[in-house]
Amino acid sequence: MTRMKYYSCAIACWALLAVVGRATPAKIEGLEQTQEIDDVDDRDPRLPRTCELSTDINGTSFQNPGYPSATSIPTGACRHKVYPVNDNICQIRLDLKDFILAQPNAEGVCAADFMQISGAMTKIPQICGVNSGQHLYLDVTPDFGSVTINVDTSAPGAKWSISVAQIECNSQYRAPAGCLQYFTNTYGTIKSFNYDATNFSPYTPPTATTQLANQAYGVCIKPQSGFCSVAYTKTSVVANDYTFSMTGDASIFPPGGPLPGYAGSADCTTDYVMIPGGTLMDTNYAVISADRYCGTNFPSKVESSIQPFALYVVTDDTETNYADTALLDGPNVGFSIDYRMQSC
Ligand SMILES: *[C@@H]1O[C@H](CO)[C@@H](O)[C@H](O)[C@H]1NC(C)=O
Repeated sequence: MTRMKYYSCAIACWALLAVVGRATPAKIEGLEQTQEIDDVDDRDPRLPRTCELSTDINGTSFQNPGYPSATSIPTGACRHKVYPVNDNICQIRLDLKDFILAQPNAEGVCAADFMQISGAMTKIPQICGVNSGQHLYLDVTPDFGSVTINVDTSAPGAKWSISVAQIECNSQYRAPAGCLQYFTNTYGTIKSFNYDATNFSPYTPPTATTQLANQAYGVCIKPQSGFCSVAYTKTSVVANDYTFSMTGDASIFPPGGPLPGYAGSADCTTDYVMIPGGTLMDTNYAVISADRYCGTNFPSKVESSIQPFALYVVTDDTETNYADTALLDGPNVGFSIDYRMQSC
């Protein structure tokens, strides 16, 4: 009973805040829709939530109003607040089933549309663009209060459907702390956010920045008995295509020609993937081991046996190099890297 009261109060206060904080007709219209659905929620907890709604039920979906069409409220914040289902929740997993927001600007900054998450301990980058199929883990403490997912849009066309699962502290599905993404198979594909941008072609030089700025997160791979290391390769098996670019200007290199990749902390200072203890299986590189990888190409193979198995993604806040304009980045697409665990 206390729990129900808490829930209703939470909803009421949230709704009240929404009314007080917003005066535009579009928002009030959204709110009416919200209250209607909220009543229905009591009868069917599995119904999706749209803007300015909360949940304390496991596995709800947060969708744009009008989903699967583009959002019917194309400007402003659309927030979904997640309350713990019980007092033993340590993580929240978001599955971006469908996620299409506006592309970032030329600097890779999510200036038009973005998703921002608050209330969790994990440092979560703002993301935008096309991210259907991606997932995120957020660490929370069992007394976390609430986590708010805010999809803020400023242009028509955005749509999303995000399923929100709550993971108990003793669950076998819990990811190691601090991992924004967690892969549990012996092989798989790790892609940077917005890698699946629609204006991207592997055989022609990129024309727009789709790599997102301001990223700093870890991608972890679950250890398995009998496996002692992880090998990382570019997902595309075509040498010198345009499927990996983090720094430099891939657009100035003609198709078919060599594309320069870099390894090491001297060359990779702004945007890079980090594979701690990486050993390079590629004689085109001057070094045989490196933690950082950038440029417009990736070694034919990088292997690491350092545990926990993890790859980190780092990008700075711009594609512009203020310190050295000769090093300005061009349009970069980010990366798609396959990992495969190697037996001992
Ligand atoms: C929530 O649902 C997920 C997926 O079905 C499940 O793994 C998890 O244990 C559930 N969490 C709770 C607290 O029941």
